[in-house]
Amino acid sequence: MKIGVPIEIKNNENRVGMTPSGVFELTKRNHTVYVQKNAGFNSGFLDEDYVGAGATIVDSIEAVYDAAEMIVKVKEPIEPEYKLIKPNQVVFTYFHFASSEVLTNAMIDSKAICIAYETVEDKDGALPLLIPMSEVAGRMSVQQGAKYLEKPIKGRGILLGGIPGVPPAHVMVLGGGVVGIQAAKMAAGLGANVTIMDINMKQLRYIADIMPANVNTEFSSEYNIRRHLPKTDLIIGGVLIKGAKAPKLITKDMLKDMRPGTVIVDVAVDQGGCFETTKPTTHEEPTYIIDDVVHYSVANMPGAVPYTSTVGLTNVTLPYVIKLANDGWEKACDNNASLAKGLNIVKGKIVYKEIAEAFDMQMA
Ligand SMILES: NC(=O)c1ccc[n+]([C@@H]2O[C@H](COP(=O)([O-])OP(=O)(O)OC[C@H]3O[C@@H](n4cnc5c(N)ncnc54)[C@H](O)[C@@H]3O)[C@@H](O)[C@H]2O)c1
Repeated sequence: MKIGVPIEIKNNENRVGMTPSGVFELTKRNHTVYVQKNAGFNSGFLDEDYVGAGATIVDSIEAVYDAAEMIVKVKEPIEPEYKLIKPNQVVFTYFHFASSEVLTNAMIDSKAICIAYETVEDKDGALPLLIPMSEVAGRMSVQQGAKYLEKPIKGRGILLGGIPGVPPAHVMVLGGGVVGIQAAKMAAGLGANVTIMDINMKQLRYIADIMPANVNTEFSSEYNIRRHLPKTDLIIGGVLIKGAKAPKLITKDMLKDMRPGTVIVDVAVDQGGCFETTKPTTHEEPTYIIDDVVHYSVANMPGAVPYTSTVGLTNVTLPYVIKLANDGWEKACDNNASLAKGLNIVKGKIVYKEIAEAFDMQMA
């Protein structure tokens, strides 16, 4: 199959859909991979790395879309890309259709086969192509929290791990899923006192078993959260209720119970945020202050660490890319129920219930 890897043109997106290692695996199987010039540059991969792995470098985004039977990228296509997508072309990327009717209509009109990373689903209901990004965001939340706790950026001026003779900071992690576990692990590793809260007892039991002694588990309730506020330095929000907006676990009135310079990092910002005072921010201006509390709520945290994010993402997408290239999309989806869940729009027809429902449209 002919596979195309374009540059990501969405603002501030530095990831790329395939690494040289992925190209190597595909060309080894006699597929042809067209990579747009400089596509991997911002993730740390040079054109010569791709050529060494067997890719053909092409000069323009038009040439990539023109040559390819399947496009492998990262973010949803944006307006200038709509007209490049051809009927029957497979596009394998994050789409998040339910949040954009314009994109949904554009992809219906394109008659392409749109397979969305975010709806590929394991037998147990997990979303394997979202997990690495939550891992990145969870680990990064502590790195960012530690930075914004510094006084020059209006934080409390406390080192997460303390020093001999000075106690460490208190970190509260809301949600013990992928984000929460990675955050708790990083904060604990730096020596902080960590409390992680969830409403899922099975998950709390698991966390209690695997975490070091400086991580305590607690059932998530308003009463318990309020009790911790006056002594907590950093709060990380990583809750998720599938298919729903995040519950507001930290309300505006709770800010006054926190000490000035407390930092709150809302990783769940992409689902509306789990703090009432959250509004989405960008890497250019990641924080704002309300009632002396520093808010960090960047909606695409993995974008700041494109090397790690690209490799993490492509580690999990590549096995599916190989199946699609070897078998073609129809056979690959027939043979693999997880991948079949990724089918969102096929040759002008919506085939994923939630997207049809989001816009009151017809299912195929
Ligand atoms: N900002 C970013 O760049 C970025 C990146 C990746 C993920 N995210 C977001 O982070 C959020 C968490 O993702 P995840 O992969 O960890 O999800 P997950 O499903 O693995 O974990 C969510 C956890 O929240 C728990 N939960 C639900 N209600 C709760 C409550 N009231 N109190 C405490 N815990 C509660 C669930 O039981 C679950 O364990 C999602 O909204 C996701 O979209 C954001």
